[in-house]
This record gives sequence, structure tokens and C-alpha cells, in this order.
Amino acid sequence: MAEMKIEHLSFNYTPQTPILQDISLTLDTTPTAIIGQNGAGKTTFVKLLKGLLKPTSGEIKLDGKSIRALSAPNLAAQIGLVFQNPNDQIFKNKVIDEVMFGPLNIGMSKEQAKKKALEVLQWLGLEDKINDNPYDLGLSERKLIALASVLAMDTQVVILDEPTIAHDYASKEKIKLTIKKLQEQGKMVLTIIHDMDFVAECFDRAIVLVKGKILIDGPTEEVFSKEAVLKEAYLEAPHVTQLCRCLGYKQTYLTVEAFVKAQKGIE
Ligand SMILES: Nc1ncnc2c1ncn2[C@@H]1O[C@H](COP(=O)(O)OP(=O)(O)OP(=O)(O)O)[C@@H](O)[C@H]1O
Ligand SMILES: [Mg+2]
Repeated sequence: MAEMKIEHLSFNYTPQTPILQDISLTLDTTPTAIIGQNGAGKTTFVKLLKGLLKPTSGEIKLDGKSIRALSAPNLAAQIGLVFQNPNDQIFKNKVIDEVMFGPLNIGMSKEQAKKKALEVLQWLGLEDKINDNPYDLGLSERKLIALASVLAMDTQVVILDEPTIAHDYASKEKIKLTIKKLQEQGKMVLTIIHDMDFVAECFDRAIVLVKGKILIDGPTEEVFSKEAVLKEAYLEAPHVTQLCRCLGYKQTYLTVEAFVKAQKGIE
């Protein structure tokens, strides 16, 4: 079971401007969302977890071992990161080659890599696109291809940076099912996301970043019950939570389903 321990992590791109400041927390297989306004440092944080950036100070440990000590292929085989912008990730001219690249890179045989790639492309409904050029496809499909490339590697840690942006309802549902499937497989799923309704539906833990610091980290229900904290982070609670609050309910309801169940007396 994957665990990442972050100890006093700080990071600057330039000496004058601190971006992340003294972050300490432990991530486990609890489905976790990272939320916070634009520029809070969310993408920078996950790039550090993936080893794409090196901490200015502090330590990141995966299952007790500093990631500094892991070789690049070893890190790639254990931590997958789906980029916020698929154009930063995709570089092959054929969908199947793009999705097979990661698995081949971490040492899977050609047959294994192809099997894995076809499996995830089918799961994401992209099986008829395998010979297409990713750049001929729309943003939503390119984002799904970037997701497929990471899923095909079967890493124990899967980090998603804004997975729902540019997707319609059907694709968002697919992403929701993918996150649930990864959780059932016992993987660590960490997701940066701006869609608070999606956070409420999919994640048990929410970490709020404000100007490179953790403002609050706890069960999603607890985080969304704290109006003043959300205001400080320029965040809104999920729509159902806001509606129930306006109607005078004291309890924090995160989803329509939870609210309806409570009203009908079913817990
Ligand atoms: N390569 C870079 N060089 C210098 N500064 C950078 C670089 N990348 C990001 N920054 C700055 O670091 C800060 C944090 O950026 P980051 O992309 O991590 O934020 P974010 O929370 O992911 O924002 P968003 O919600 O807009 O994606 C911002 O002020 C940004 O301008
Ligand atoms: Mg970002």
C-alpha cells in the first residue's frame, strides 16, 4: 500500500519568490483532492512529488525511501502524473505509440505494453482512435490519451492535475469511474481539481493550498463545513452544500444523494 511522506518541503523557482513553504503531510490510499486558487502552487507540488522538480529544502519519501534515492525509471514505474495540459505530455504522432511509450519505458515487453495500452484505451472509449494522430483530436480526447498513457503504466501512485477540465458530462463520469477503479485496486490517487462538486463526490480527504501553504487538510465534509476557511482560500463549497446552508440545515451535505438519504431517514 503506497504512502508518501512529505517533510518540511519548500520550493522556489527563483531565489526571491518562495512558492511552497514548509509543507509536511502524509498521503496514503485515502482518495485525496488538492484544491486552491490559481497560482497557489498545486501543480508545482505534484511535480515535486513526481521528481520533475527538486525541493529547495525538505524531503519526499515513497514507502519510507527518499525519492532522491530512486532512479528515474524506478520513479516512473511507481508514480504516474497526468499533466494539466495534455500538450505538455503528448509527443508521439500515433495514439497507440503514445500510450505504449510509458509501459515500454519502464521495461514492459512490447506485447505486455500493447495489451495494457489497448485495455486502457478501450476502458476510456478510445479504441477506435488508436491509429489517429493525437494532435488531430480535440482537447477532451487528448486529455483522455494523456490519462491512458499513465494508466497503462499501472503505477501504484496516480496523480491527476485537473482531469475534468474540457470534458463533457459523459467524459467526467468516465474519469469518476476511473478514479473509483484505481481506489479499488488499492492505488494512491491524488487529484488537483477546481470542480468542488466533483471533489465532494469522489474524494474523502481535501487539502487546501493557499499561497504555497496548507490552510486546511482533513475529511472533505469537515473542510467544506468551514465557511470562513473557504472564503480565505477563495473557494466555494459544492452547490448542494451551499443550497442546504441557505435553507438553514446545520449538517454539511456534500452530495444530492447524501441529502436525499438523510431526508428520507436512510443513513
Ligand atoms: N516554471 C516556472 N518558473 C517560474 N515561476 C513559475 C513556474 N511555474 C509556475 N510558476 C509560478 O509558481 C506559482 C505556482 O504555480 P502553479 O502552477 O504551481 O500553481 P497552481 O496552483 O497549479 O495554479 P493553477 O490552478 O492556475 O493551475 C505561480 O505564481 C506561478 O506563476
Ligand atoms: Mg496548476
